[in-house]
Amino acid sequence: MYDIIAKKRDGGVLSDEEIQFFITSYVAGEIPDYQASALLMAIFLRGMTPHETAQLTMCMAHSGDMVDLSAIDGIKVDKHSTGGVGDKTTLIVAPIVASLGVKVAKMSGRGLGHTGGTIDKMESIPGLHTDLDRARFFEIVRRVGCCVVGQTGNLVPADKKLYALRDVTATVNCIPLIASSIMSKKIAAGSDCILLDVKTGSGAFMKTVEDSIKLAQAMVEIGEHVGRQTVALITDMDRPLGCNIGNAIEIEEVCSTLHGEGPEDLTEVCLDLAANMLYLAGKGAPTACRALARGQIANGQGFAKFCEMAAAQGGNPAVLENPALFPKAAAEYDVPAAADGWITAMDTEKCGIASVELGAGREQKGDPVDYSAGIVLLKKTGDCVCRGEPIARFYAADKQKCVSAAQLFEGAVSIGQEAPAPVPLVHARVS
Ligand code: URA
Repeated sequence: MYDIIAKKRDGGVLSDEEIQFFITSYVAGEIPDYQASALLMAIFLRGMTPHETAQLTMCMAHSGDMVDLSAIDGIKVDKHSTGGVGDKTTLIVAPIVASLGVKVAKMSGRGLGHTGGTIDKMESIPGLHTDLDRARFFEIVRRVGCCVVGQTGNLVPADKKLYALRDVTATVNCIPLIASSIMSKKIAAGSDCILLDVKTGSGAFMKTVEDSIKLAQAMVEIGEHVGRQTVALITDMDRPLGCNIGNAIEIEEVCSTLHGEGPEDLTEVCLDLAANMLYLAGKGAPTACRALARGQIANGQGFAKFCEMAAAQGGNPAVLENPALFPKAAAEYDVPAAADGWITAMDTEKCGIASVELGAGREQKGDPVDYSAGIVLLKKTGDCVCRGEPIARFYAADKQKCVSAAQLFEGAVSIGQEAPAPVPLVHARVS
């Protein structure tokens, strides 16, 4: 291990055997954290070639269970988002593409910090389970076409150990390490093709379009190296996606979007994501696939598939047909505009933190989540507002939570005297 650290410290290229040795021995507990930390820092400073990054990814993917989806007929397409605020796209695009015959066997995560998690949103549907065993997961994907579960089994233990170490050694923000961390989990999850939604902006892990493109390129290159066709879209997270930030209220927005009545930004991003998943599954060129996806909203089949998936996972589809049946928060609170003018920016990370304050997210792993809490944005970036007019409605278990979240939220909203220039929803496509 000493020689491997020294080689990377001096800018050398690690061999496949050296990378394999590092991952296998570290997961087995045979390499101490101080040596693993030294190697991570050397990688942080010196970088990795595309071949080294691909080898690291594959060794990490094989460090635990590999899901074998070959028992399910057809092309399986996975989707991954690097995380954002108001990002409920999986629950819209998975049913749309499944309603066109493309299988989606998706493992998702819970919310942490300012970013929400698909699993929490799904569990706000009364009765719905995301902790299904492998046999039940496969049965639902086969029968319904899509299923979204939490991570089960011993998937990529190398990433769990390495991420915890990176978190405390200032080595998280390193493109080969981020790319191998994300792609190892996608590869272990077993799908044939992968669509990556790399978020960019104030609510995203990557704050600039340039960095987001670099990360996307690294991940697409790994996909190519290991024979999994991968496409990435760089999508905007400089404002929350859609209007609702929370759990049950995001499910309401999933339903309205699948009915063709959702916010324009969310609808457009979902159509682009669905189009690229369909393209990866061989359904045609992205523009033709976008029209197919739009058709599944117009003919109601996307919504019907979402209800079918929720019911298969034990959820009560009555709340999807009539979201007024979702349990309601005890306190409601309107946040007024502080001035006349245009909303020129919304610091999206701060909006996410305000939603955590309301109870919709968690500060620490394992914290409970209040499914009925959250924020409905009545105005967004680019909208004209009058002083005192409500710009957001908060939902929480009590008024005090709303008052402290309002202080955070007010700091997130900038109002100016000129309308801001429009910003694209999809900044780039990397394939
Ligand atoms: N998300 C991941 O899964 N891994 C990283 O390293 C960073 C973000």
